[in-house]
Amino acid sequence: MSQKSHMNALINPETQEMLHKCNNKLSAIRLADLLMEPDRFQHFARTFEGLLYDFTRVRLDQPTLELLLQVAQGSGIMAQRDALFAGAPVNLTEHRPALHMALRCPEVLEAVGGSEAARVRAAMARLFQFADSLHAGRLPPAAQEPVTDLVHVGIGGSLLGPKLICEALASETASLRVHFLGSVDALPRERLLASLNPATTAVVLVSKSFTTGDTLLHGRRLRSWLTSARGEEAAQQRLFAVTSQIERAASFGIAAERLLYFSDWVGGRYSLWSPVSLAAAARMGSERFRRLLDGAAAMDRHFQQAPLSENLPVLAALISVWHRNICGYAAWGCMPYDQRLRLLPAYLQQLIMESNGKSVCADGTASTLQTAPVVFGETGTEAQHSVFQALHQGSDVVPQNFVAVARPDHSDQEAHDELLANMLAQMTALASGRDEAATRDALGTVPEALLAQRVFAGDRPSELLMLNQLDPEHLGRLLAFYEHKVFCESVLWGINAFDQWGVELGKTLAPNIQAALASGDGAGQGLDELLTHIHRLRR
Ligand code: F6P
Repeated sequence: MSQKSHMNALINPETQEMLHKCNNKLSAIRLADLLMEPDRFQHFARTFEGLLYDFTRVRLDQPTLELLLQVAQGSGIMAQRDALFAGAPVNLTEHRPALHMALRCPEVLEAVGGSEAARVRAAMARLFQFADSLHAGRLPPAAQEPVTDLVHVGIGGSLLGPKLICEALASETASLRVHFLGSVDALPRERLLASLNPATTAVVLVSKSFTTGDTLLHGRRLRSWLTSARGEEAAQQRLFAVTSQIERAASFGIAAERLLYFSDWVGGRYSLWSPVSLAAAARMGSERFRRLLDGAAAMDRHFQQAPLSENLPVLAALISVWHRNICGYAAWGCMPYDQRLRLLPAYLQQLIMESNGKSVCADGTASTLQTAPVVFGETGTEAQHSVFQALHQGSDVVPQNFVAVARPDHSDQEAHDELLANMLAQMTALASGRDEAATRDALGTVPEALLAQRVFAGDRPSELLMLNQLDPEHLGRLLAFYEHKVFCESVLWGINAFDQWGVELGKTLAPNIQAALASGDGAGQGLDELLTHIHRLRR
């Protein structure tokens, strides 16, 4: 079945009309009233191995959900999912599969087969061995020299996932310190190096392409720093690389025994399951990293096997297209109420916006559907004191995705109750609001002019993902859930989730502009006066 025929289900005028009719009907019902329906939680919440997905606060009723499930069916989600797992070249513009699941799910790696599967197994074995050696404070592969600090250099998918899991799952007792460098901005690097001892520091350059300017510039500076302090041979022993372009990393000067490979069919933003996470795995220990992979593999199996109506990623994608294409909401917020998930919004920003921020369908025709929303987010309760004003009373409705952990890893139950109560209060305020009568009841006599300011419209949807606890398995399931949700959205929208041509133009313009910046000469493109101004400021 072609990609084109898959998207027909959602753009089909009859389906659109039926969905819009459902929306009109539901718009006349208060979300607060829907929430009072008996059995709403039974109908609009699902669980899978310690993960609760509660979408009771999405303005949906049973007939609408059933219609959306028919859209999923008509879009060929199941056939596309099977093609994804079987290694079909779903990344059509780059003519390759998207098989990141093979890194965590042995059955999928079986499907890869042949010498590539053997290469992946060897690379993963090296990852586990190096991670354990570094975790124990010994420099791999020989494990004789000491290591106290590991600097991970990478950007985008070569940074966000590893940094997120490192923060979320770092073992409290690990003695190894891990540092991350992303943007080419030199100040964080200079500050970091001032605090490190080159005799006990190792560096891992992480780049799928091994052409990314930011990463290579930091890499050159770090290599010089090690070389000038320790000499060339000792410096080389402390330089590692993770890439799918082994030759490029070798020409940069990384020794073969310090290179970790991953396949080009692992997309950058899907690569956290690969040796890209060496630094994170070193900090948490390989056993915890393997458990993360196991958790994700469990979600892979759920996505493959669960019927559509019970399938968490499918349901979440249907709610996403409901909000984006039928209700017309252009943004989406992710609010984790757990500090260890501080970096989840940034990770999801890339996953969602780089995967599905497209306006051309997989077959090259212009999309008639709106695709990825603008994604943003902040931890709770901080978000309540920054962005929530607009979410409650702003002119735009922005669906929210709350993420919480039921059992904390600390003993202050009162603080955890307060945290969860705050989140539940935000969900309730968004959904139910407070009308004029209730506002009068709450505030007593209020001047009319003030009354309108104190009313909350309500009817603002949110979803909740609650983990029983934040351990490697639960986090693995959560992240794989989002990956598959994004894939399902791309099927519903008829776009390719696995390329990212939109990041190329800026990259190709930058070198000429950099030369003009250095020389003070014009660069054209309407930049001349600005460049002259900047040049003058820097003299
Ligand atoms: O610029 C976007 C991007 O291509 C991302 O997709 C990728 O995660 C990031 O750059 C880093 O690329 P690399 O791993 O090749 O350095």
